[in-house]
Amino acid sequence: MLADAKREGRRLAMLTCYDAGFARTLDAAGTDLVLVGDSLGMVVQGHASTLPVTTDDIAYHTACVARGLSGALLVSDLPFQADATPERALDAATRCLQAGAGMVKLEGAGHKLEVIRFLVEREIPVCAHLGLTPQSVLRLGGYKVQGRDERAAGKLRDDARAVAEAGASLLVLECVPTPVAAAITGDLSIPTIGIGAGPHCDGQVLVLHDLLGLDGGHRRPKFVKDFLAEGGSVAGAVAAYVAAVRDGSFPDAAHSYAA
Ligand code: KIV
Ligand code: NA
Repeated sequence: MLADAKREGRRLAMLTCYDAGFARTLDAAGTDLVLVGDSLGMVVQGHASTLPVTTDDIAYHTACVARGLSGALLVSDLPFQADATPERALDAATRCLQAGAGMVKLEGAGHKLEVIRFLVEREIPVCAHLGLTPQSVLRLGGYKVQGRDERAAGKLRDDARAVAEAGASLLVLECVPTPVAAAITGDLSIPTIGIGAGPHCDGQVLVLHDLLGLDGGHRRPKFVKDFLAEGGSVAGAVAAYVAAVRDGSFPDAAHSYAA
């Protein structure tokens, strides 16, 4: 279904979600993919990073969201270190799927390639996540655009090919310059989903709270757009986002990193 969308040039609209009430609204608006992101550690739990989130948290919110969905594909994040080894990842991913997810997402390449292969061989669909990987915030030294110089861009392209070869069926690219994300999208037959990765990805994802202008007093990153202002209601905001992703009007240059 996902690879078909890419082949047919149908852009995929994805949003994060953490409860059944919002899940119903996202589903009714035709959102293709709904992500129980470990961003819940920040926007729901109020932590300063995603590191405190546990598999229990993700499984609980996955079960809540699953009850509100009928059409969208539900993806759950494997939280910090739940994917540190293939065996741990299998346990965490099994809990997510048993709670109602249809796919799990994990950050990084490197030793995670073995984890991706291990899960896919055991019938668990995997979404990869490269670029700014928030679980690496301590090593990265903050939330910054990734792949800006030639060497880093080349590494990102190699990692993207590797996660696809390992069996990932979807790839989230976070905070990557527009030309780098475009090149990766061209390299792969699996869809890329951008967040701060320019308009040339096969789909887009936003954190639901960001879409609704709930910035929690933090500085709003460049790629965030408050769709509530133009949508007029929560349902209207979600519909405006889905329409803008489908027709390619979001993100525009003002919401992307040129280089
Ligand atoms: O946790 C999350 O919300 C995410 C998206 C921003 C891609 O991983
Ligand atoms: Na995440």
